Amino acid sequence: MKKHLLKMADLSKEDIFEILELAEKLKDYNKNKVSHYLLKDKTLGMIFAKSSTRTRVSFEVGMSQLGGKALFLSTNDLQLGRGEPIHDTAKVLSRYLDGVMIRTFAQQDVEDFAKYGDIPVINGLTDYAHPCQVLADLLTIKEYKLKKLDDFDKLKLCFIGDGFNMANSLLVGGLTVGMSVAIANPKEYEILQDMKDFGAKFSGKFLFTNSVKEAVKDADVVITDAWCSMGQTDKDERKAAFKDYKIDSNLMKLANKGAIVQHCLPAYRDEEISSEIFDLHENEIFDEAENRLHVQKAVMVKLMGEK
Ligand code: CP
Ligand code: NVA
Repeated sequence: MKKHLLKMADLSKEDIFEILELAEKLKDYNKNKVSHYLLKDKTLGMIFAKSSTRTRVSFEVGMSQLGGKALFLSTNDLQLGRGEPIHDTAKVLSRYLDGVMIRTFAQQDVEDFAKYGDIPVINGLTDYAHPCQVLADLLTIKEYKLKKLDDFDKLKLCFIGDGFNMANSLLVGGLTVGMSVAIANPKEYEILQDMKDFGAKFSGKFLFTNSVKEAVKDADVVITDAWCSMGQTDKDERKAAFKDYKIDSNLMKLANKGAIVQHCLPAYRDEEISSEIFDLHENEIFDEAENRLHVQKAVMVKLMGEK
C-alpha cells in the first residue's frame, strides 16, 4: 500500500480488499469487546476546513479504540487559516504527529501536505475525493449483498446526482473492485473529463449518462448525495438543475429487486432522496455511517501501525 490515502486511485483492488478484511476483524473486536491497541501512544491530527459530524467523531473514537489519541485542529484556529504555508505547517506537524487526516476544499492542498510532510496523510474529504466514505460504502455493500469479496463483479452500482467528490470516488472505487458503475449527472454538473477517461478503461463496465432511468436500470446499489455540497453557493440554480435527479419509489422500481440504497449523509429528505425511500432503507444508510469507524481504523492501522 502507498504511504498516503489521498484519493481512491491510490488503492489497488488488493489494498481495498485488505482494508475491508481488517475492518471486518476490527468490527468484530468491537462487537466482542476485545481490546485492540494497535496504535498505542500514536497521535493523529485532524485538520478541518469544513464542517463534519461523522468524520470527526469516527476518527476520534477510532483512535481512542486503537489506544492512541486524536487532535481536532480547525483551520479557523491554526495559523494555516491566517496564511502560514502548507509547506511549513506540514514540516512542523510532522515533528509532533504520527499521521494526519485533512478535510478541505482543494485536492492540491492534501497532495502538498503529503509532499512536504513526513507522516501519512488521509483525505477526510476534498472537493475531488472522499475515499474514507467509499471504503465504508464498499464494506456495507459487501455485508448486504455478498458472501465473499471476489463477488463484487456480480454487482451494478449507480450514483445519481452531482459530479463531485462522491461521484468521483464511487466511480474509481466501484470499478476497481470489479463492479459495473453507472453515473448520472445533469448536463451542467457532470463529472470531470479525467473521471470519464478513467471509466472508459473499464470497457463494458462503465456508463456515464444524463438519464437517471438509464443509470438505475438493474442496479443492485443505488447511491446519491446532497445537491448542494459544502462550499457550493449556487443553491437555487442547483435545486432547479437537480430536480429530476432524486431517488424515489418510482425510480427504485427500475433497480434490481432487493437493491440497497446508500447515502454518505447528511441527507436532505425530499430533495435528492424521498423521505419514503430514506425510511425504507435507513438501516443500510446508518450501517454505512457506522462502517466509517471500522474502515478508517483499518486504514490508520495500515498507514500508521508497526510495519
Ligand atoms: N459523510 C460524511 O463525511 O459526513 P460528515 O460530513 O458528517 O463528516
Ligand atoms: N458531497 C458532500 C459530501 C458530504 C459528506 C459535500 O462535499 O459536502
